[in-house]
Amino acid sequence: MRLKSLYYGTFLAMVTILSLSFLAFHAISDRMQTMTIDPIFDRADEVQLEGGRAALQTGGAKGLKDYMAGLDRIFNGSHYLLDAHGTDMVTGINRAALLPPAPATKSRIQSHGHSIITHRSQDGLYWFAADGRVPRPHIWTFLPYYFLVIGATGMLCWLAAVGVVSPIHRIASTIAAFGQGDLSVRVQTKRQDEIGQLGRSFNQMAERLERLIVSERRLLGDISHELRSPLARLKFAVKLARTSSDAKAALDRIERDVDRLTSLVADIVEITFVEGDPALQGAAMVRVADIIDEVVGDCNVEAEIRGCRIEVTGQVASTVLGNRELLRRAVENVVRNAIRYSPEKTAIRVSVTEKERDAIIEVRDEGPGVPEDALTRIFDPFFRVEEARAATGGGSGLGLSIAKRAVQLHLGTIAAENVYPGLRVQITLPRVMGPLLH
Ligand SMILES: Nc1ncnc2c1ncn2[C@@H]1O[C@H](COP(=O)(O)OP(=O)(O)OP(=O)(O)O)[C@@H](O)[C@H]1O
Ligand SMILES: [Mg+2]
Repeated sequence: MRLKSLYYGTFLAMVTILSLSFLAFHAISDRMQTMTIDPIFDRADEVQLEGGRAALQTGGAKGLKDYMAGLDRIFNGSHYLLDAHGTDMVTGINRAALLPPAPATKSRIQSHGHSIITHRSQDGLYWFAADGRVPRPHIWTFLPYYFLVIGATGMLCWLAAVGVVSPIHRIASTIAAFGQGDLSVRVQTKRQDEIGQLGRSFNQMAERLERLIVSERRLLGDISHELRSPLARLKFAVKLARTSSDAKAALDRIERDVDRLTSLVADIVEITFVEGDPALQGAAMVRVADIIDEVVGDCNVEAEIRGCRIEVTGQVASTVLGNRELLRRAVENVVRNAIRYSPEKTAIRVSVTEKERDAIIEVRDEGPGVPEDALTRIFDPFFRVEEARAATGGGSGLGLSIAKRAVQLHLGTIAAENVYPGLRVQITLPRVMGPLLH
């Protein structure tokens, strides 16, 4: 489809609007002239007529002739006082041809470079007539001005069209580049108007999409990387099972790797589930205390096996809006980590507090903590610190990234810090405030 440029459309619209307003103003000024200026001229004609009549009465034909000669000199034309039939009161010449047909009592006509004005006295006895030459300006006298005005107006209209359309063009080409796969392009704009707003909205959208696509790509890369080693081990174990005499040991190894793959796939399904619910469909009021109770209830057995105990402190009635299951899994991942990385027979402390508009869940253990430079990276998919990686029975490194995604989905934050001994993980979630709370 051929693109119909907005430039020409906007330019034409502006020229049309300007031309129409010019015509409208012209009509208005014509109307103003007939309503306000013409009556003044009429009265001036009447003054001259009465002046002529007075000159005739006081000075006779001679007096009138002098008076008219005075007018001729001042106004540059021929002025006459005629009787009711059009006879010149000075020369006796019939000038009825100048008078308008009855019943008109005045006229103002321009023809062949002459301006003929006639005005009848109130009593109908006299006519005042003036025949002046109207200087007709040469066409070139005004034409340059017209061209100048048309040129300047056209130029301004074009500039206005460019001012509106160019930024739209730029935004369109940025969007096209983004569509072609260049995720880093952004609209450069400082405008505060709707066009600027459009650019900024696109930038926000692009920002979110880029983050999502990049994290998705990274996750996919990580997943395939993580799948590769258990698969390679499986292949090796199968070969071993075929050839070695101890088939049972090889099968055990196969089973372990299959279990590991199964839990890895379960985690991946979970992480995509969290991602797939960006609008938090099915959001409900969730009491933080309920989640804690549930998680602690589930994890107690696990803790007891390691001789640890879970202590819960803080009794707040905070409620958050969100997906109960996602929140539960987020907290559970953190608590399970605390149990897994705690030394035996130590305590895991879980507390819930409120601070301004937030509910804060803290999980603290007495384990080795995490190297300072890894404190933020433990929330990345598949990240595990070296010891955890080396240890047998470690997880896949997805737990905290699942928790982070779930918490961020609820507009909350999650962070970890070393507390010597141990690690403290803090989840902050915005509380539901005010009348919504029942
Ligand atoms: N409480 C903790 N104490 C010490 N290190 C921790 C603690 N919690 C997490 N980590 C470190 O952060 C890493 C990432 O944790 P994450 O929960 O994402 O993965 P994981 O526990 O190894 O596996 P998964 O949770 O998927 O079974 C862990 O491997 C561990 O090295
Ligand atoms: Mg974990």
